[in-house]
Amino acid sequence: MSAEAGTTNIAFSAATEQVFDKTLGKYPNKRAALLPTLRLAQDEFGYLSNDVMEYVAERLDLPLSKVLQVATFYTMFYKRPHGRFHIEVCTSVPCCMMGGYDIMRQLEKRLGIAPGEVTEDGKFSYAEAECLAGCGNAPLCQVNSEYHEFLTPAILDELIDGLQ
Ligand code: FES
Repeated sequence: MSAEAGTTNIAFSAATEQVFDKTLGKYPNKRAALLPTLRLAQDEFGYLSNDVMEYVAERLDLPLSKVLQVATFYTMFYKRPHGRFHIEVCTSVPCCMMGGYDIMRQLEKRLGIAPGEVTEDGKFSYAEAECLAGCGNAPLCQVNSEYHEFLTPAILDELIDGLQ
């Protein structure tokens, strides 16, 4: 299938199409490239809307149900719009015991939004997350793909200031 949109009205940009082609070359078949293709689609379109998932299914010759199954399993795939900086705060037991909910409350105070909402300028959104596999450095959050560990509300403030 070409880069053109199929039943959806969306398509990868020329630059993403090149990366997509290279990615396909690393896998034994198209279907095996689902995870990296979802990542590419998220980077390109911001989040995985139903249209985007349909597009990915078409490009990989997969049933939409398979794409939905994988995209909804992993929290790293966003199913609705997020801010330019999406902050995920771990609140699983070790992080919770080290102040994970203090971080959540500080975010609500600083950004003036609830988890899952996006600030008016489109810059920030945040969500509660399950264990992010950095328990020894609790509490922590992930901003897009970057980890910030040993957080306190004051350190979080500095982090937000730096992203403003
Ligand atoms: S409990 Fe927070 S990273 Fe594991």
